[in-house]
Amino acid sequence: MRILVVGKGGREHALVRALAESPEKPELFCFPGSDAIFEIAKPIEADGLDSLIAWMTTHAIDLCVAGEESYLVKGEGLANLCAKHGIPCWGPPKESAQLEASKEFAKQFLVRNHIPTARATATDTLDEAVAAIAGEYPTVLKFDGLAAGKGVAVCPDEPSAMAFLDEVFTQRRFGPGRVLVEQCLTGPEVSIFAAIVDDSYLIFTPARDYKRALDGDLGPNTGGMGAVASRRLISPEMLAQIEKEIVQPTVAGLRSEGLPYRGFLYFGLMLTPTGPQVIEYNCRFGDPECQAVMPLVKGDLASFCLAGAKGDLRPEFISFDDGWSVCVILASAGYPETSRSGDLITGLGNTGDFRIYHAGTLKNVDADWETNGGRVLAVVSGAATRQEAAAKAHAAADLIHFPGLQRRHDIGILNFD
Ligand code: AMP
Ligand code: GLY
Repeated sequence: MRILVVGKGGREHALVRALAESPEKPELFCFPGSDAIFEIAKPIEADGLDSLIAWMTTHAIDLCVAGEESYLVKGEGLANLCAKHGIPCWGPPKESAQLEASKEFAKQFLVRNHIPTARATATDTLDEAVAAIAGEYPTVLKFDGLAAGKGVAVCPDEPSAMAFLDEVFTQRRFGPGRVLVEQCLTGPEVSIFAAIVDDSYLIFTPARDYKRALDGDLGPNTGGMGAVASRRLISPEMLAQIEKEIVQPTVAGLRSEGLPYRGFLYFGLMLTPTGPQVIEYNCRFGDPECQAVMPLVKGDLASFCLAGAKGDLRPEFISFDDGWSVCVILASAGYPETSRSGDLITGLGNTGDFRIYHAGTLKNVDADWETNGGRVLAVVSGAATRQEAAAKAHAAADLIHFPGLQRRHDIGILNFD
């Protein structure tokens, strides 16, 4: 089996490792990849979507796995082009990937399908946004497009809302686009991942990421400073409610609206006092949740994704470890505002009951690892309890050093329930 994974971050490193561990022993390729990924997957010669598709065709690729979302909505869309060329793809076509690419599209889909979500109004101008807020604070403002995780502002008061609206409508920081003014929800957040194959689905181990930069859940929002995953993260009753009120109507809605879907769908949820509500959909696995979840996946992920991409959901190919997994992110100096590259990383040679996934690293001319981005590494460990898994992950993270290293020390320890 020959599999190509698209992406380059810590999530893709975790996916490639999980696929490599499948009993099928697939031959793996990655685009654009990273030095760490290239230790287990071969690099390919392509410089864009068209040449990527041409390469897959000439190299008899059996399965394309979309790790990262951007290629799903680029040009004609990765999955659409794969379909055109007869290549099974684990990832949805462009029209379905609008669930992630357009917050307004997602909101309308949610409302049409009676799936619980915050009330929202789409606005085109600063004045319209101010009218929609109607003096009700806190409020949530969302730029309608991909904005590298910077497009959402939870505003406690008028000055913070005006500052965000000024950035969007006056400075056009994210380019042209509308703003959704959304009701502010409260409660713990949880990330639910479902593998969807047409009208069937399989829910993976629930996870939660730690979005703030600093201990105690303080500081600015980041792409995620760590994650925890376990089937016991939420109660069986809550998971059943999420399945009935959110996952099932989403799958049914995709079918009834003619939106084909084969791939991972990420439900970003808030467990509010009145029940779970959808904050967002992402048409891919979460990062860093993937790094926490993948070590819990047992069995044959490669065959699972290949069968799924061909329209056959085969839950029996995989199973989920019952324990806890904790992922601690090591970030570079300046993150999240900026990031610093070129800092020498030491301690990667240590081995033990943990996994290290690379997100932003490169191998320099001396074959040493250097930082190369904001989030640098993910250190992941598992155990029967959350506390034990967290202690192991933090102890493993202590072994790694680089100038300017930033991390949280309460990942898996601070609980949100
Ligand atoms: P998003 O990019 O839509 O996932 O939003 C980023 C973060 O903003 C979420 O993880 C939440 O912490 C917060 N957020 C988004 N929507 C809401 C909402 N309606 N109420 C409260 N917080 C929200
Ligand atoms: N962990 C958040 C995301 O992947 O979007």
